Amino acid sequence: MSNDALTHPTDAVAMRHALTEAATTAGYAPSIHNTQPWRWRLAGDALDLYTDRRRVLAVTDPETRLATLSCGVALHHARMSLAAQGWQVTTTRLPDPTDPDHLATIRLDGRARADQQTALHLRTIPLRHTDRRPVTGAPVRPEDLRAITAAVEAEDTWLHTLSADQVLELASAADHAQRTEAAEAAWRDELGYWTGGNRPGGAGIPDAAIPGQAPQTTVPGRDFGHHGTLAVSAEHDRAAVFALLYGRTDEPRDWLRGGEALSAGWLTATELGVSVLPHSAPIEVVSTRQAMRAVLASTGYPYLVLRLGAIDPADAGPPHAPRLPADQLIEQSHQVRHRA
Ligand SMILES: Cc1cc2nc3c(=O)[nH]c(=O)nc-3n(C[C@H](O)[C@H](O)[C@H](O)COP(=O)(O)O)c2cc1C
Repeated sequence: MSNDALTHPTDAVAMRHALTEAATTAGYAPSIHNTQPWRWRLAGDALDLYTDRRRVLAVTDPETRLATLSCGVALHHARMSLAAQGWQVTTTRLPDPTDPDHLATIRLDGRARADQQTALHLRTIPLRHTDRRPVTGAPVRPEDLRAITAAVEAEDTWLHTLSADQVLELASAADHAQRTEAAEAAWRDELGYWTGGNRPGGAGIPDAAIPGQAPQTTVPGRDFGHHGTLAVSAEHDRAAVFALLYGRTDEPRDWLRGGEALSAGWLTATELGVSVLPHSAPIEVVSTRQAMRAVLASTGYPYLVLRLGAIDPADAGPPHAPRLPADQLIEQSHQVRHRA
């Protein structure tokens, strides 16, 4: 079907359905502190993605690096949904130079054959989740690590697996970052606002997803300032592999691509039975972010640390974090838009 063919009224209904479905699927995306800092606007044959400043962590993430990464994951989820529904799309990133919050426009170009890879990713999207328990099982298989790295690289971002010495540098950076942040009252308030409790509003991290005791780890995980109710084993996470997700610049366009790459890598990992736990504290603090850049020998800019570990297939893992209702995140616009 050509672009011009997308003019029949029934096409309008099909397009609205497909785009609504895509924005709804994007709601499963992981985000820093489960803030879900995105907003979708649906108009005709296009879906626009915006940063929602009301859910950006002003103290922890003043440059919106982590919010933009999170929105990038949502963008990739929406792309997967449309591809799996059999739509060909054009994605334009940062389409409006006057509006930095307008992160992307996805425009439907016509029908296409859905491929098996995207159909598999679509099934994985609601299953993927964050598991903060120590990884104590078998090591991650090298071929799985290569497949996850390839999925990241297909989205113009890179993944560097840390050597044993670099893991020790990371451990020290993570510890320093957490101490620096915890010393600031405004940071503690922000953390307290978004984490703990039952989270009936649908955003933030509930106690059920926060370890009930400090896990035995070489690299300290996020210190939530209190223990949750998630049961964790007393074993050390010796089987963990750490990797740095990084890109060629420290600019919003590449952060967005980094989020798309995070989605591609995390979905692939889930399909291979590998858990992913992001560690963003070392990226949040300037001095430790620079230390992570030095680990990359300044070949790129670090966006996120990922802990990877093989999952016991019999273990369903911790409960899923809640999500905001889709209608709070999707705005239907009746404005007619013309193709450029
Ligand atoms: C950019 C980004 C940074 C994150 N940083 C951390 C982190 O430092 N520590 C942590 O435990 N989880 C981290 N997470 C995981 C989120 O807390 C998690 O995705 C969110 O609570 C939603 O839960 P779910 O992944 O189980 O759906 C991060 C996620 C993203 C996308």
